[in-house]
Amino acid sequence: MDQVVYNLYAAKLRDYFEARHVVYSILPLPTTEENKSMELVMKILDEVHKFSLDRRGEPIIAIGGGVCLDIVGLAASLYRRRTPYIRVPTTLLSYVDASVGAKTGVNFASCKNKLGSYVPPVATFLDRSFFQTISRRQISNGLAEMLKMALMKHGELFELLETHGPFLLDTKFQSEGSGKYGGKHGKAAVTSSRMAIKSMLEELAPNLWEDELNRLVDFGHLISPELEMEVLPTLLHGEAVNIDMSYMVYVSRERGLLTEDDKLRIIGCMEGLELPVWHPDFTMEMVNRSFQNRLKHSGGLARMPLPISLGRADIFNDTTDEVLCKAFKKWCDELGTSSKTLI
Ligand SMILES: NC(=O)c1ccc[n+]([C@@H]2O[C@H](COP(=O)([O-])OP(=O)(O)OC[C@H]3O[C@@H](n4cnc5c(N)ncnc54)[C@H](O)[C@@H]3O)[C@@H](O)[C@H]2O)c1
Ligand SMILES: [Zn+2]
Repeated sequence: MDQVVYNLYAAKLRDYFEARHVVYSILPLPTTEENKSMELVMKILDEVHKFSLDRRGEPIIAIGGGVCLDIVGLAASLYRRRTPYIRVPTTLLSYVDASVGAKTGVNFASCKNKLGSYVPPVATFLDRSFFQTISRRQISNGLAEMLKMALMKHGELFELLETHGPFLLDTKFQSEGSGKYGGKHGKAAVTSSRMAIKSMLEELAPNLWEDELNRLVDFGHLISPELEMEVLPTLLHGEAVNIDMSYMVYVSRERGLLTEDDKLRIIGCMEGLELPVWHPDFTMEMVNRSFQNRLKHSGGLARMPLPISLGRADIFNDTTDEVLCKAFKKWCDELGTSSKTLI
């Protein structure tokens, strides 16, 4: 269990287990991005071993943000080659993203998620009430991954985020609303989070082991891993992803795939979600480096997901260096000076 979550919810959790006569042991750990390493995996394995867990009937339960879910998932996948585990995401980002799919992992050699496995959990328990205690910035962070799915696959989700984003930030997804869109904001919290998870599942379920390399879910994840590792811990995952997406929207515009109006709406929506749309450390040199890496690990193809309208996207392999450069210049000219965009 994430140490911070433990401090907030330990009493409730103990009541929950005790009411159900569960034999349990809780291991609170400082599962931060800087600590996302094999060291914590080994700590978990030591504890699991001491508990003398029965691999067939006793799951490990990971309770925390995406970092915690990834580390515990990796430990579970290693213990006796595979021990069942359950994910309980407690941040918006982990709820809509890290809770779906089979990936586990830790950082290694200064590279994000370099060690890991594909082992799905036996279950994921979703409870939005955990978000009451996360910061507004962390809500924004999760909204970035929801926006990713909206831009790639779901025009209706985009409109929901564009219209209700500030409300979702204010209420931390706690409002239940009434009717599908009844009231001013209606069921924006439940509808938008379900739409995001559903579209994520549609993409991941048929490609659990990532054999298919053309993946829309990679949008925003081409250059952001480099940026995220370089400026750690000043940018959150979703913030780095959003900066990458913002640049890609300019690439898409430069290629003539997106209209100027759609581009402006997307950037406006990002700002409404209080996400950074530009960063000084996101350089053309970083773009080139990430691109070369991508070509090396992706069968010689760029496989670049780009939005072609609000809620529709395609994968492109033929973006020229000239387009990348021109888009970069325009992106810096239009967004680089805005003080709002700097963290
Ligand atoms: N496996 C996957 O498919 C996948 C997908 C997306 C992201 N990830 C990984 O997830 C990580 C990011 O996840 P994250 O954004 O959840 O970050 P995180 O796990 O670092 O959590 C963010 C912060 O919130 C705190 N916290 C968690 N729940 C809380 C709560 N309910 N109340 C108060 N504080 C709380 C944590 O202690 C931490 O300080 C990255 O390492 C990323 O690589 C994995
Ligand atoms: Zn992500």
